[in-house]
Amino acid sequence: MTPTKHLIAMIQSHAAGDSDRFLAIVETIASNADRAGRTKVAGEIRGVVERVRRDSNTRPARGPIPIASPRGELASLVRASYPETSFADLVLNPDLTRRIGGIAREHKAHHFLEARGLSPRRKLLFSGPPGTGKGLTAAAIAGELGLPLFTILLDGVITKFLGETASKLRLIFESMASARGVYFFDEVDALASRRDSENDVGEARRMLNSFLQFLEDDKSNSVIVAATNHRTLLDPAIFRRFHAAFSYTKPSVDEAQRVLCNHLRQFDVTDLKWDVLSGEINGLSQADLVAVADDAARDAVLDYDGQISTEILLRAITDRKALHNE
Ligand SMILES: Nc1ncnc2c1ncn2[C@@H]1O[C@H](COP(=O)(O)OP(=O)(O)OP(=O)(O)O)[C@@H](O)[C@H]1O
Ligand SMILES: [Mg+2]
Repeated sequence: MTPTKHLIAMIQSHAAGDSDRFLAIVETIASNADRAGRTKVAGEIRGVVERVRRDSNTRPARGPIPIASPRGELASLVRASYPETSFADLVLNPDLTRRIGGIAREHKAHHFLEARGLSPRRKLLFSGPPGTGKGLTAAAIAGELGLPLFTILLDGVITKFLGETASKLRLIFESMASARGVYFFDEVDALASRRDSENDVGEARRMLNSFLQFLEDDKSNSVIVAATNHRTLLDPAIFRRFHAAFSYTKPSVDEAQRVLCNHLRQFDVTDLKWDVLSGEINGLSQADLVAVADDAARDAVLDYDGQISTEILLRAITDRKALHNE
């Protein structure tokens, strides 16, 4: 790397708050000085790096301190994040928009409800096809309420050892009481599929039963979101444990247009032939449409002087559909 490249990389790592990378670049500069025979300078630089490292080990870390990062065994069961997603990022049908907004409102105004012996709904079931916004909604609820999002890592939770899954689930449900957040069980059918009640007495049934029990017993302030692409696979006993269920669908023509426009914000879309595009987007999910918008944007920037057109979008739509059909 040239000195200029080093300088740019150092500014970038400083801006990103990545002091490890910053110091690594400084060390590279010291090595270069060594090789060029400027050993005294190299030694001085290394001395400074060493002092900075020593200091930063004894000083508390700067920047936002994670409010609830999972420790110990819990760290292998949940992943914490702090989404900045908001409801403005979501395109949902009017009914879902109203109902999801209503949930957030209940949590924001929980004092009013509690004063009258009521409480906000916390146990939510999202179902619907892939890429329609279930995960994004869980993140947006966390973002809107300023809560951490704890995504359950099912690979860590589900084990083949007798009784282990139940004890891991217990840890997660205990954490709900001590660390308030949005706890997101994606693909919950893996935990809570219906069992052939007569002959299935194995670990799967034990896992289902403990999940049902923990869900029922939970009295925390956390929000529990469970999502599935296969609502019909779920054990019927699970439904009454949720406070509300939400059914996600692929977008209407109008919603599809909103998803595309939101993701093409930096382009002029006034001349697009929406009637032509509407005829082609059938069957694509919101996630597909985001991918279409991104593909089209890349094409427009690289090949068409930043001008998006109906033709570019149609090509991206065809490519996206091919992905599903192959
Ligand atoms: N309703 C939506 N509004 C806006 N963007 C969406 C919507 N649904 C999906 N997207 C886009 O697609 C991405 C993936 O969506 P998401 O993870 O929410 O899908 P999902 O319903 O959870 O799918 P899966 O069932 O496959 O997990 C989002 O990050 C977002 O960019
Ligand atoms: Mg998802």
